[in-house]
Amino acid sequence: MVARWTVLAPLLQAVTAGRDLLDDTISRLTPEAVAAELVTEIGDHDVRLDLTFAGRTTSHLRTDSDVTVSLDLADAVRGLYGTGERPWPSLAVRTPDPELDERGIAGWFHSRKGLADAVQQLLSALRPGRRDLGELAVEYGSDKWGDLHWYTQHYERHFARLRDEPVKVLEIGIGGWEAPDSGGGSLRMWQRYFRRGLIHGLDIVPKTVTGPRITAIQGDQSDAEFLDRLGRDLGPFDVVIDDGSHFNDHVRTSFHALFPHVRTGGLYVVEDLQTAYWPSWGGHPDAPATTSMGMLKSFVDGLNQAEVRDPRGEGTYLERTISGISFHHNIAFVEKGRNDEEGGPAFMRTLY
Ligand SMILES: C[S@@+](CC[C@H](N)C(=O)[O-])C[C@H]1O[C@@H](n2cnc3c(N)ncnc32)[C@H](O)[C@@H]1O
Repeated sequence: MVARWTVLAPLLQAVTAGRDLLDDTISRLTPEAVAAELVTEIGDHDVRLDLTFAGRTTSHLRTDSDVTVSLDLADAVRGLYGTGERPWPSLAVRTPDPELDERGIAGWFHSRKGLADAVQQLLSALRPGRRDLGELAVEYGSDKWGDLHWYTQHYERHFARLRDEPVKVLEIGIGGWEAPDSGGGSLRMWQRYFRRGLIHGLDIVPKTVTGPRITAIQGDQSDAEFLDRLGRDLGPFDVVIDDGSHFNDHVRTSFHALFPHVRTGGLYVVEDLQTAYWPSWGGHPDAPATTSMGMLKSFVDGLNQAEVRDPRGEGTYLERTISGISFHHNIAFVEKGRNDEEGGPAFMRTLY
């Protein structure tokens, strides 16, 4: 497993830094390589796009078009991946007649509605708006919002602080089951939601889904050694989501193998916890320790381990590194953080 994104990963980190650092990063990665990533991200459009960096301009998209949108490369990168709401200072739209004034340009476009729409579409692709996750789930065909599950409201709440960050996401379960060219709805949704995110999908079936910031990996979530290798090669992850087989032993194995590869401050999410209560999925109506819910419930007591048996708060690895857990209908969010505060003073334990 070799990490891709040798250009994108540093670019996504630098995009919210100051202009000088972004310029340095573009120079180091080369403006050609950065422009190529940008063009892959925005897709095809029926106008010409000129991108300028350090006095040199390169042309992209429909180079024979009558209309050219020209932009400073660093401005374009910031509009696409950055978080600022500032307009592009360097934007210009040119028609074949360089003498036209603003009114003239408006008149020129008036009789060429198709080209005006193409410019509009290119500008929206260059600066995508913030969309609600439920809408994105429906648009990209993930079942995380709809009559099967109502998860996106919970994701919105827990992921809000990460949305504009250069996150690395791993989702177990790409979707589409046996069909290699089917699925990928949630990966596309995350790619759109996290504008600076690098999205990894894992599925037992080899999947063909692609995207500028999506990579599909084949593997079995019940294979702990494979997951540990994956974590070492591609992690640490800011977010891991288990939406795979939903068999209880698989969910437990995946959690124990991958939680060490979640970075501090990150989240591990388990979906479809209803299977913890269903015997044919390895569950039991009481959700004992052998089930996914049983495992997650045991972490709740771990949060307070310093008050019970280990006043110095040293505890086990999971006790020390799980700093919060939220349960909602069929989905849980486990927060990775420091849980090593000392317990209350010993005399309080025996006050009454
Ligand atoms: C519910 S679908 C994922 C849906 C997708 N996350 C979405 O929201 O659009 C579950 C996927 O898990 C995959 N899967 C099943 N068993 C697996 C295993 N042991 N390891 C990895 N993936 C598995 C299936 O092939 C299927 O594509």
